[in-house]
Amino acid sequence: MQNNYKPLRIAGIGYSVPDTVITNNDLTKLYDTSDEWIYTRTGIKERRIVSGNESAVDLGVEASKNAIEKSGIKIEDIDCIVAASSVPPQLYPSLACHIQAYLGIPNHIPAFDMTAACSGLIYALQVARGLIGSGLYKNILIVAADNNSRHVDWSDRGTSILFGDGAGAMVVTASEDDVDDVLSLDIKSDGTIGHYIYMNTPGKNCPLVEPCDELDSYIHMAGRDVYKFVVTTLPDFIDDCIKQSGLSAEEIDYLVPHQANQRIIEAMQTRLNYPDEKVISNIEYYGNTSAASIPIAIVEGVESGKIKLGSTALLCGFGAGMTWGAAVIRLREGIC
Ligand code: COA
Repeated sequence: MQNNYKPLRIAGIGYSVPDTVITNNDLTKLYDTSDEWIYTRTGIKERRIVSGNESAVDLGVEASKNAIEKSGIKIEDIDCIVAASSVPPQLYPSLACHIQAYLGIPNHIPAFDMTAACSGLIYALQVARGLIGSGLYKNILIVAADNNSRHVDWSDRGTSILFGDGAGAMVVTASEDDVDDVLSLDIKSDGTIGHYIYMNTPGKNCPLVEPCDELDSYIHMAGRDVYKFVVTTLPDFIDDCIKQSGLSAEEIDYLVPHQANQRIIEAMQTRLNYPDEKVISNIEYYGNTSAASIPIAIVEGVESGKIKLGSTALLCGFGAGMTWGAAVIRLREGIC
């Protein structure tokens, strides 16, 4: 066990994605692009997006229900909700408060959002680890949910090809058997390169003062800078996280990376010298679903038989901030 913290058990994982599928060929109706260009550069063939009034709240509620059911923990015993969303459907009430309400959690537990963009799941796991490890809370619901499709500029072919919508959830609890399911975890950020990926929340100054700049509210991204940053920064960081886990890279059963770009996933795979069977990628069908991408990939990996539970996994993510994080976790039997 690391430090003097109480160990944590990952009790359940769930996910939810919208039914509507938009393929690369569909995007050719919006701008000059091709399935071949998108697939070669990103590994993406299609993505799921919300339609009508469906939102990250609906997806987050569904994912949470799945994770709670798998966890075997009673809904009334959840004592904290931490939501990680890049852009929650409302800035307030928080996504976490909406989820508390829709799940019908009767108790007045704390529910709050935290923002670490696509690294959000790993950041939230670190927050939950601190809260459980200190003994403050026992059963925490982590929810990562985003409807990116509502925030991309659908005339910008550099960003709108990448993102999809989805939600993932994890129930974590104080471990009863003294085994810690988080073998190592580290999170980082560098705000000096925040301009690589950003989104404004535009507003207007009071009419009695000088006006502020008028801004749009789309996702902006310097794709090449993000790509270079990730492939130069993450490998050494991941090596450190593996070292801290006490396992060697070979001993870890799976790599479950944030699903942002297949070429980035392959760069990590090469660095770790992992065969294809150890690397979980479903970016082809979902695109980049922000912080939800890791839990979606875990549960789908189990459903498709690629991941066998009773194993260990290296998670790593990166996103706007820039933020990044990695963790080596145990995937116990029955969690999804
Ligand atoms: N279809 C066809 N052509 C496209 C296109 C598209 N969807 N998007 C861009 N292009 C064109 C550009 O206009 C440019 O043309 P030009 O050379 O005539 O100016 C050319 O393709 C190259 O554009 P560029 O943006 O430099 O492409 P790229 O090779 O860097 O690929 C990304 C773009 C976005 C796929 C790539 O940079 C990437 O995936 N980066 C990482 C982003 C990421 O992971 N973000 C998530 C962080 S959580």
